[in-house]
Amino acid sequence: MMKEILEKRTQLINRRLKEIMSVYTKENAANQLVCAEAMEYSLEAGGKRIRPVLVTEFARILGNAKEKAVDCACALEMIHTFSLIHDDMPCMDNDDLRRGKPSCHKQYGEDIALLAGDALENYAFDVIASDEKISYEQRVRLIKCLSRAVGILGMIGGQTIDVKNVGKPFDAQMLLEMYSMKTGALIKCACEMGCICAERYDMIPKAEEYAEAMGLAFQIVDDILDITADEKLLGKPVHSDAELNKATYPAVFGLEAAKQKAEELTEKAVNIAKSLPDSDFLSQLTAYLLKREF
Ligand code: IPE
Ligand code: IPE
Ligand code: MG
Ligand code: MG
Ligand code: MG
Repeated sequence: MMKEILEKRTQLINRRLKEIMSVYTKENAANQLVCAEAMEYSLEAGGKRIRPVLVTEFARILGNAKEKAVDCACALEMIHTFSLIHDDMPCMDNDDLRRGKPSCHKQYGEDIALLAGDALENYAFDVIASDEKISYEQRVRLIKCLSRAVGILGMIGGQTIDVKNVGKPFDAQMLLEMYSMKTGALIKCACEMGCICAERYDMIPKAEEYAEAMGLAFQIVDDILDITADEKLLGKPVHSDAELNKATYPAVFGLEAAKQKAEELTEKAVNIAKSLPDSDFLSQLTAYLLKREF
C-alpha cells in the first residue's frame, strides 16, 4: 500500500516536472536546447522523489493543500537534482552512474553538466516566484527557506565539508553536522515548504524536528547502501565512498553501529511523525526508508 501511494504521488510530481521543462523549445532556445535536454535527462524518472513527496504530504496533512504545493515540490526536486549532477562530476565524487543511467557529465560532457546544474537551480526559484496558486508572501517565504537550505549554511556548506575533509579524522558530532547540512538541509526545507504552502507557520519547529532525525537517518542509510547494495538496484556506483576515502558513519563506526544509529533516528522521526495529524503515510514512509534497497 505504501509503495502504491508513493508511486501515485511520484507520478503527480513527474507529470508536473515534464510540464515545467516543456517551456524550452526549438522555437525559443534552438541553440541552447542541449542544456535543457541535459536538465530533463537528469530530472527524469528514476529518482525516489522523497523530497517533493514530503513537501506535498506536509501541505496535505497540515492544511489540505497538496495541490497548492506541487510546483514548490517540483522546485525542490530540481534543486536536489542539480546537487546530484554536480556531486557526480569528476571534481567531486567522480561517479559515472546516476538513477540507473550514465551521469549527466558522462552523457553531455562536463561543460553542459555544470551548466545544466546551474540552470536547474535558478529555474527552481523562477518556478516558485511564478506560482499563482500561492500568495506573494508565501512565495517570498518559500524562496528564503529554499535559498538558505541550498547555501553555505546548508547543502553547499555540507558538500564543502565532505570534499575538503577526505582522509581526515571525523568524530560522530562532525559527521552528523556534515550530514545535517549536505542532506538534512534540503529534507528539512521540504517539510518547511509544506508548512508554508499550508500557511501553518506554527508547525515549522515540529516539522524541523522530524526532518532533522529523518534526514540524518536518510544519509546514514545512503552510506550503508554504498557498502551493501546491489549496483543495479541502487542505480549508482557502490563502494564509491571507500574508493574516495570519504568519512561516513559506517566507515568510522562500522556497519552495525551505523545500522543501529539509523534505526534510532528513524524511531525518533516516526514518533514525531505520529504526533502530527493524519500521519499514517508519513510514519510508514519514514520506516520504509530505513529498509530501502536503493
Ligand atoms: C541521494 O539522494 C543523495 C543523498 C542526499 C543521499 P536520493 O537517495 O534521494 O536520490 P534520488 O533522488 O532517489 O536519486
Ligand atoms: C550527497 O551525498 C549529498 C548531496 C548533497 C548530493 P553522496 O555523495 O553520498 O550522494 P550519492 O551517494 O552520490 O547519491
Ligand atoms: Mg558526495
Ligand atoms: Mg556522491
Ligand atoms: Mg552516497
